[in-house]
Amino acid sequence: MVNNMLKSILKLLILGALVAPVNFALGVSRGEEMYQTLTCAACHGAAGKGMVYRRDRKDKKTGKYKYRKGQTKPGFEAYPKLAGQNSAYLYVQMVDIFSGKRNNNLSPAMAGIKLMVDSTAKEGDLQAIADYLSQVK
Ligand code: HEC
Repeated sequence: MVNNMLKSILKLLILGALVAPVNFALGVSRGEEMYQTLTCAACHGAAGKGMVYRRDRKDKKTGKYKYRKGQTKPGFEAYPKLAGQNSAYLYVQMVDIFSGKRNNNLSPAMAGIKLMVDSTAKEGDLQAIADYLSQVK
């Protein structure tokens, strides 16, 4: 009797341990999709890695580099990189920027998409985006 109960509890624990990562993985893929849909990449770059050039470019006449792969595009130096940051931190910053609680001279750029985010994002999407960005290597 007790033995059976212990077995059932054990099964539930194992099931829980298996389901949690699957839920996280589903959230991450939803987050990736919403990161694109909500135009986040337009300011934070592909996968939140910042607005950087994807390849080198040389000036044809001088042969000198105009820019190098990985170099930040002009004007985006102060736009934060999001990839690999802590999920809980990212989530709170998004909420605070959209609510106006975090408000510096750069915040309005992002707060400008609030209406679009409010009308497009579902409950849990910002958390899903935070989870997605936190696991980008
Ligand atoms: C129009 C440009 C723009 C768009 C679009 C944009 N952001 Fe931002 N984002 C910024 C700027 C600029 C900051 C810095 C603002 C500040 O310091 O308050 C920022 C800050 C952040 C931060 C805080 C990062 C940190 O290190 O503290 C997070 C998280 C973030 N953005 C996520 C997103 C997500 C997710 C989206 C899409 C839903 C998005 N942003 C869309 C420009 C943008």
